[in-house]
Amino acid sequence: MPNDPVAARVWALAGPARVSRAPETAAANAACDALETRVGDLLDRMTLAEKIGQMAQVNGHEGSVSEELRAAVAGGRVGAILNEVHLPTANELQRIAVEESRLGIPLLMGRDVIHGFRTILPIPLGQAASFNPELARQGARMAAQEAAAAGINWSFAPMLDITRDPRWGRVAETFGEDPYLFSRFAEAMVRGLQGDDLARPGSIAACAKHFAGYGASESGRDYNTTNIPEIELRNVHLPTFRAALDAGAATFMSSFSALNGVPASANRFLLRQVLREEWGFDGFVVSDWAAISQLTIHGLAADQREAAFAAASAGVNMEMASSAYTDHLAGLVADGHLEEALLDELVCAILQVKFRLGLFDSPYTDPAALPPAASEDHLALARRSALQSLVLLENKDGVLPLSPDRLRSVAVIGPLADDPYEQLGTWVFDGDTALSRTPLHAIREFLGEGVAVHHARAMETTRSRSTAGFDEAVAAAGRADAVMVFLGEESILSGEAHSRANIDLPGNQADLVRVLADTGKPLIAVVMAGRPLTLGNIIEEVDALLFAWHPGTMGGPAIADVLFGIESPSGKLPVTFPRMVGQVPIYYAHGNTGKPATLEQFQHMDDLPVRTPQTSSGLVSAHLDAGFTPQYPFGFGLSYTRFGYSDLSLSSQAIVMGETLTVRVRVTNLGACEADEIVQLYLRDPVASVVRPVRELKGFQRIRLAGGESREVEFMLAPADLAFIGQDLREVVEPGAFHLWVGGDSRAELHARFTLLERPSSDPESP
Ligand code: BGC
Repeated sequence: MPNDPVAARVWALAGPARVSRAPETAAANAACDALETRVGDLLDRMTLAEKIGQMAQVNGHEGSVSEELRAAVAGGRVGAILNEVHLPTANELQRIAVEESRLGIPLLMGRDVIHGFRTILPIPLGQAASFNPELARQGARMAAQEAAAAGINWSFAPMLDITRDPRWGRVAETFGEDPYLFSRFAEAMVRGLQGDDLARPGSIAACAKHFAGYGASESGRDYNTTNIPEIELRNVHLPTFRAALDAGAATFMSSFSALNGVPASANRFLLRQVLREEWGFDGFVVSDWAAISQLTIHGLAADQREAAFAAASAGVNMEMASSAYTDHLAGLVADGHLEEALLDELVCAILQVKFRLGLFDSPYTDPAALPPAASEDHLALARRSALQSLVLLENKDGVLPLSPDRLRSVAVIGPLADDPYEQLGTWVFDGDTALSRTPLHAIREFLGEGVAVHHARAMETTRSRSTAGFDEAVAAAGRADAVMVFLGEESILSGEAHSRANIDLPGNQADLVRVLADTGKPLIAVVMAGRPLTLGNIIEEVDALLFAWHPGTMGGPAIADVLFGIESPSGKLPVTFPRMVGQVPIYYAHGNTGKPATLEQFQHMDDLPVRTPQTSSGLVSAHLDAGFTPQYPFGFGLSYTRFGYSDLSLSSQAIVMGETLTVRVRVTNLGACEADEIVQLYLRDPVASVVRPVRELKGFQRIRLAGGESREVEFMLAPADLAFIGQDLREVVEPGAFHLWVGGDSRAELHARFTLLERPSSDPESP
């Protein structure tokens, strides 16, 4: 233990003295030298100050290089910049680093490239609704190329925080509530951003963030405390990160939040035990923005020096934005609190990523080597992505699709019908609103001269309380054969630190829907939002309800394609939609209680006779007012056709541990219209050493069937699909019966069961 009293507390937290001598450190250094002789050579030539410089990421000035920044880069005091997307400035910063700093180490240039760059794709939650990770991979590739052309070589994406709380503003950035679906998107995003080879033009380093547990922020309030039992952490919150790591994610970001009492940016369990020791991660970890300095505000460190110590010894390689490392690491080494070998380990990983990116060989960006941004191809991809993200929630009497031949006039109403900015969603620093095609624009273009389009905004924003625009909207509706109302949330109502406690449509939107419904005209509501909303107060009023998330640059044409039947909607919900916010957290893969609710047993509070005697017998787990079912379940989404599921068969009724099971099912398009369907496979392990979810997604396929067409779809269930983290926190597969269901959403009814045997059943000793 050091003598220094201020550090003693944090020192104790960091574990045995001289963490740098922990065995994993030695191993990491050896790997570093062996893998990258150039890294080893470079490290040998670096002064302590130059090493600490590599561990600092500072904010750019968006288009200029201040004298202070120039001096810091030339002096080797900066390893990475963020938020500099002006290409000449980015190249100039690289030039200063390469030509003017003593060792010529190039810079990492980071940016939040979350769902597109100039061309904006649907928010990640919307992309997840496509159940099409390959499309997300292509989108990430496009975004990487557009960003690379601006000098960016590192994206702070993908965001991998599972959440089951739609109040949380950052749900928009997630791929939903389900570890399996989310993990497929995690891999796809990493592959899209990084490409096959990080050194190729157009490949940028991915950053798996925010490690870990951030999505469990209490009450959905951003940055809030998270308390997650380790079994749940490992079964639910960590698999997305593991998937990103297995796909080759070069970097990780430590979360702002405290996990089980220890802020993630000083969390040795997460950063050393899980990430490095168990998973063997050899990339580097950057803190979230000023998260190291905030360790003092959390109350984990008394000052910035302790904060630097806690983060470095936990394994955070680079500090974003704040300067605890810059100001204190040298002193901590000089005082003997940290050994320089620990810094070598941390810096080595940063340098390795720079080598993998090819920055030492070609630090400058030549935009001519990359495809042009916002090309026709990019816009077409954004349109496809938006199209597949649209989820049809209601379609009473088949009011959709609208048949243009039968329309003489339509009304296009609402605060989000013609807003090129709001449809882009959160995290669109570089999105070009001039490219946006709004629904109004697309509807006009689609219908042409022959159909009159009456437009009324009705409300200035989604939050407006004024009804001043209602009369004009009602008049427009009165003149129309069909009314399309574009509702939802502006983009600023979701995203970082933009959480809501009430997730109804804000402002007077429900009233607007009511007055439009009173006109008696067919009423189609399209909702653009960054989160699931509670829609109970408009569902009865509308004839159709299309959930469009924030659909991005090409949202308008994609929505028009669906409204007018050019394409059938095919998105499915990647999150459960609650009836009331008080149901949160509500998610399909919940564990069973000892008293699960059924429709037969559940009694709504309105139906409870007065003076019903209190008893605990026959009671079930439900809310008296909201019941126990969601408004719309995970995996749900309507189509313009219906799909039939039949002939479910398994390759065997019993498999032995380690074997793979083949599941086949026939899917038939029962209607006339060609359409995509997302075929979903759910599994349940009904008896296990820990309570397992009542259902878990274990496979999905997007297929396209012509009207009347039928196809056999095959799934392979691998041993890993039956595994879970058990009581001893290790992965386990337990023999016994399993149930599976296949269908079009998480309530799928087509069922089969099989048995997992420990040994072949011919074995006389088998049970
Ligand atoms: C966010 C990160 C983001 C970083 C840099 C933080 O506030 O939490 O997700 O990557 O800023 O912009």
